Amino acid sequence: MPIDHFGEQVAARYDESSADMFDPAVVDPVADFLAGLAGDGAALELGIGTGRIALPLARRGVRVHGIDLSEAMVARLRAKPGGQRIDVTVGDFATTTVAGRFALAYLVFNTIGNLTTQDEQVACFQNAAAHLEPGGCFVIETGVPQLQRLPPGETVRAFALTPAHLGFDEYDVATQGLISHHYTIVDGRLEASSLPFRYVWPAELDLMARLAGMTLRERWGGWRREPYTASTTGLYVAVYEHAGVAAS
Ligand SMILES: C[S@@+](CC[C@H](N)C(=O)[O-])C[C@H]1O[C@@H](n2cnc3c(N)ncnc32)[C@H](O)[C@@H]1O
Repeated sequence: MPIDHFGEQVAARYDESSADMFDPAVVDPVADFLAGLAGDGAALELGIGTGRIALPLARRGVRVHGIDLSEAMVARLRAKPGGQRIDVTVGDFATTTVAGRFALAYLVFNTIGNLTTQDEQVACFQNAAAHLEPGGCFVIETGVPQLQRLPPGETVRAFALTPAHLGFDEYDVATQGLISHHYTIVDGRLEASSLPFRYVWPAELDLMARLAGMTLRERWGGWRREPYTASTTGLYVAVYEHAGVAAS
């Protein structure tokens, strides 16, 4: 089982520290996009966390099931209004299976990168595909690796520089490894944490999808279907469709 990096201390502050991502202006387009793909079918969220997307999606009438490694994150979801109506299986989303078939599986907010090897990411695509109905979709939201901003020979790039939060990404281009270092002032005390990721290229995700019997249907620069271009630098959205036949 992978290491749980979202234990009690992280879970207790997750919604507050990601407050910008809980803004309805951010969440509503995500939930609308996903509800449109789910239609009358059910949805499976990989890495459901505290329910940032699952709860608004469920409020749109979609039955949502989640998988997450962190008991602490899931406890936060269950304590929220509507949280009890969402079934969650605690486990690794690269390998854990749940009963039933889904019209939609989704993995948002860079969470594919929490799987720190290519093998695990490939397994995740295969696991998602195995849960989809024929014609069902797997949606990934992640970031374009920011290597164009990393001068040759440098390994560290700042992504947050505020009085209460310093954040630095440390790259290892040989392994596609990235460690996000956070230094945060909480109640007057400095808290430090480091979270490992594996950054992944859009075309690499497309290939992982093909290995799992899925094909790229759409790629957007955002949830409002903004164009995906060479200038896309933030989170982008890829939709993979399951053809309904087993991968060879
Ligand atoms: C960045 S949070 C995203 C949570 C939620 N999807 C959101 O958008 O707010 C990543 C979540 O994925 C979970 N996670 C990370 N790696 C996992 C794995 N291998 N299997 C299951 N859950 C995992 C963490 O516990 C955490 O809840």
